Amino acid sequence: MTKKNLYIAPSILAGDFGRLADEAKRVEEAGADLLHIDIMDGHFVPNLTLGPKAVAAINRASSLFLEVHLMIYNPYEYIERFVEAGADRIIFHFEAVENVEEILAYVRTCGIQVGLAFCPETSSDFVAKFLNKADLILLMTVNPGFGGQAFLPEVIDKIRFVREACHHLKIGAGGEVVKKGEILPPYLIEVDGGVDDKTAPLCVEAGANVLVSGSYLFKEKDMAIGIGKLRGEV
Ligand code: DX5
Ligand code: ZN
Repeated sequence: MTKKNLYIAPSILAGDFGRLADEAKRVEEAGADLLHIDIMDGHFVPNLTLGPKAVAAINRASSLFLEVHLMIYNPYEYIERFVEAGADRIIFHFEAVENVEEILAYVRTCGIQVGLAFCPETSSDFVAKFLNKADLILLMTVNPGFGGQAFLPEVIDKIRFVREACHHLKIGAGGEVVKKGEILPPYLIEVDGGVDDKTAPLCVEAGANVLVSGSYLFKEKDMAIGIGKLRGEV
């Protein structure tokens, strides 16, 4: 995987919620590729965070690509509001819905990208059938709900499994099937939770190409240095 194909997504959950707009600008100035926004409902996960109004405020403050990670039940009810707020990609959880394919298709009809997230304990057997219906697969490397948790190394095998499934099924960017002679960028496999300069290389080696990082990046005085370390450049 070339460095050019590695995307760094700081998670604003680790930022100062009293200064969300400034934090979004800081992420942009540090050279991040996109911004990750965690939405929690107090039911699917035992924590509460932000809603569409905060996403709209972040969107006004920054021109970054906004990825909204919904850790909520009934995501269908809220998709339209997050799209209006400026989400460029919505990720929802496999474990939170019954009609996965319907919701994947619905988000795409809204004209934005869609991602499907899997908790650490969910078997990788469920992943392959959704590869060509989603723009991205998010493999949680902690149990969702809180920032600052320790990385779960057992997810590494799952990353490898999903990357191999992409090769085997010839799935490239956006879930497109790669035709003979065609070169598509690699499919997006994202990791989220406990990603720092020690765990990022393990994820990348296994096949991840989108790295979400919250507490590691926000505690860096100069976030650009942290981003460089995650890219393997520093
Ligand atoms: C956890 C969230 C993560 C979190 C990552 O449920 O989905 O995005 O912000 O934070 P760190 O990098 O601190 O584990
Ligand atoms: Zn997240």
